[in-house]
Amino acid sequence: MGLEVFPIQVTLKDGPKVMLAPLDPEQGKPLRDFYRALPEEDRQFLKDDVTSEGWCERFLKKVESREVVSLVARSGQKVVAEGSLYRALYGWTRHVGELRVAVCPDLRRKGLATEVAKALVQIATDLGIEKLIVQVVEHQVPARRTFEKLGFHQEAVLPHHVMDLQGQKRDLLLLANDVSHIWAAMEALDSDFTPMD
Ligand SMILES: CC(C)(COP(=O)(O)OP(=O)(O)OC[C@H]1O[C@@H](n2cnc3c(N)ncnc32)[C@H](O)[C@@H]1OP(=O)(O)O)[C@@H](O)C(=O)NCCC(=O)NCCS
Repeated sequence: MGLEVFPIQVTLKDGPKVMLAPLDPEQGKPLRDFYRALPEEDRQFLKDDVTSEGWCERFLKKVESREVVSLVARSGQKVVAEGSLYRALYGWTRHVGELRVAVCPDLRRKGLATEVAKALVQIATDLGIEKLIVQVVEHQVPARRTFEKLGFHQEAVLPHHVMDLQGQKRDLLLLANDVSHIWAAMEALDSDFTPMD
């Protein structure tokens, strides 16, 4: 999937529609507002402290340098979800991509993270990425389940690798999948639910 196919309208479970498109680097404010509005218990599970000074500017620079591909889902002008594909442009992990997704609380369990992740997987395969990983903190059930349904499996546990916002150390689980395996799981999901218009 090339970026030229966007914007795409996605119809979620129970009917709401959102527009999915690559992040416009000029639109940092709605992205920052989205992340700042996430409840603290959700921000615990994000790798970056998205409320820290300069986070958004640093993120936009990574998007501009192509180290990150970012997709945002919007309802009107409001960002309601964001998903990122991180990759090393050079070096020994240049065949590996990392996915991260966040969805606003009032649109959860409607398949939005799944749709964002699926689009990122397609973009990743187009970029030649062969292996995808997701980093989740222990007990982070929603993210773990979302990616397991897409064919990811636990590949490693790094004990006490995460320090949360309160300074408590937690285990980090590395979920991984070969991209070619992901497609079979996606096709199975599509047979239950086809949200794209
Ligand atoms: C994880 C997150 C992105 C999931 O978003 P979502 O749009 O609700 O996910 P989906 O609707 O696509 O859910 C896919 C599947 O994951 C599982 N799942 C999602 N949330 C779940 C929950 N709270 N409890 C149990 N299973 C859950 C379900 O199996 C679900 O499918 P189903 O609703 O058909 O049963 C969202 O909860 C979030 O933003 N959390 C905070 C940030 C975060 O943890 N990000 C992950 C970093 S990689």
